[in-house]
Amino acid sequence: MAETPEVEKTAADKPKAKAKKDKTEQQPDNLYSRRDFFSFAGWASFMGALGLSSVYFLRLLFPRVLFEPSPIFKAGKPSDYTVGDVSTKWVKDQRVWIVRDEEGIYVIFALCTHLGCTPRWLKTESKYKCPCHGSGFTKIGVNFEGPAPRALERLKITLGPDGQIEIDKSKKFLYEKDEWTKPEAKLLI
Ligand code: FES
Repeated sequence: MAETPEVEKTAADKPKAKAKKDKTEQQPDNLYSRRDFFSFAGWASFMGALGLSSVYFLRLLFPRVLFEPSPIFKAGKPSDYTVGDVSTKWVKDQRVWIVRDEEGIYVIFALCTHLGCTPRWLKTESKYKCPCHGSGFTKIGVNFEGPAPRALERLKITLGPDGQIEIDKSKKFLYEKDEWTKPEAKLLI
């Protein structure tokens, strides 16, 4: 009579033991899939880093370059300019006035020396007038009214081998440094 419950207990324990065994058998699968995941994540990170370094390397091979327009331009022939006139032909595109007098031709940079606005040539008053704060400059470019602290700048002018006027906006001549008398500040004709 005392042995029967023991037999029943063993039989009842069988499913539990089976379940435990199943669980033990499943563990390697879970372990492998976790390993696979970490392995995949590792490769993905590596490939990502490789891709980023390749992009960086390619950018080094092809650096960004800003192409600025040349500061030199051709302004036609001296005969295109009339003695005594201030030509406004290049103000819009090149921001310069070309002035011809009895001696030759010179170029004035149309940039107000106060805060950089573009003055206007007023032919009837024979002066350049800045619309921003009222500075005024004589026909040759000297400041005489308003807050502008100094004269307008002149630019390099030469005659090219093709007979055309060449203006270099990167080379400036300053009145206060007595540079307007330098050879390339005026094209003598
Ligand atoms: Fe020309 Fe001020 S910018 S007067």
